[in-house]
Amino acid sequence: MYTSKISGLGSYVPENVVTNDDLSKVMDTNDEWIQERTGIKERRHIKKGDGNSTSIMGVKAAKIALERAKLTTDDIELIIFATLSPDMYFPGGGVRVQEMMNMRTIPALDVRNQCSGFVYAISVADQFIKTGMYKNVLVIGSENHSGGLDMTTRGRGVSVIFGDGAGAAVLTRSEEEGRGILSTHLHSEGAHAKELSLEGPSTEHWVPEIISENPQENIPYYPYMNGQFVFKNAVVRFSEVINEGLQANNLSATDINMLIPHQANLRISQFVQRQFKLSDDQVYNNIQKYGNTTAASIPIALTEAWEQGKIKEGDLVVLAAFGSGFTWGSAIIRW
Ligand code: UT7
Repeated sequence: MYTSKISGLGSYVPENVVTNDDLSKVMDTNDEWIQERTGIKERRHIKKGDGNSTSIMGVKAAKIALERAKLTTDDIELIIFATLSPDMYFPGGGVRVQEMMNMRTIPALDVRNQCSGFVYAISVADQFIKTGMYKNVLVIGSENHSGGLDMTTRGRGVSVIFGDGAGAAVLTRSEEEGRGILSTHLHSEGAHAKELSLEGPSTEHWVPEIISENPQENIPYYPYMNGQFVFKNAVVRFSEVINEGLQANNLSATDINMLIPHQANLRISQFVQRQFKLSDDQVYNNIQKYGNTTAASIPIALTEAWEQGKIKEGDLVVLAAFGSGFTWGSAIIRW
């Protein structure tokens, strides 16, 4: 019986720091509102000319993860790339990573599951490893939000939250029973697809149509979020899917050593922390520094927690995410 373990982790964020005060210079917002509602102090934005893109940041994170896994690109048999902000409409980021890292003609697959993209991606990787099809899978979550946000007062309810960055994990076959990824749990509810969405440009809203049909104040090529509705669903689904994962493994909240929640909003993470009666050092948060980096948020947080020695051999690590789709999921890992 094969299981998959995380054999290497890496992350990358652009150098350019954008503080809440910086944002208040271009839109009607302020540091107090942003910190009070979200916990965010600053985020990173790609700067024109700094050489970054969604797939380039993914490559930077992936190189670190591969080195830590003590593997080379030739060892990787599948690339899974999770993003909502690909460099191009098509093809996806996976093949761009493959090209930039000079990899063989291995399969590259993109996952479009927004905030829960990384959890979905490691679940897919885990299935391929469990069946014996592949030994080493490279999983990347990367986002370039700043390239597509409405940086005026009209977009302030969304734009202050999101940031750029990438994280990567190498998943490797293991035969050690009871270790590695114990289980993953995935859900979606398409009835709420439009509550957190970016409609166009798309095949439903192509560019000429957008320009002719939409007045300036209703532009569908910026993200839309029904913040309070998303918040209320998030706190319920986070708790449900963590419980589902614990129960599937006959575990309880007291067994959790480290919870890495998708960094949606510090208030959401704190709510979940209280529900599971976890201490501050059992929940890793870095939204204060990076904002919400959707598919990149869990691998960046996981990498940092591991680098800081907060995850040790044998620890029970729980990943959980909720976001646009709605989609949500959890992964229960024995490190
Ligand atoms: O990662 C995927 C999932 N995403 C989430 O989980 C996000 C979930 N939602 C949230 O985190 C919160 O709903 C937000 C942080 C996005 C917003 O907080 P809120 O407490 O729900 O605020 P609100 O949208 O109800 O807005 C309250 C007020 C409004 O003004 P009025 O109508 O009361 O006069 C907004 O216009 O705050 C105003 N506002 C702002 N003010 C200053 C909205 N954005 C801003 C802003 N700066 N950036």
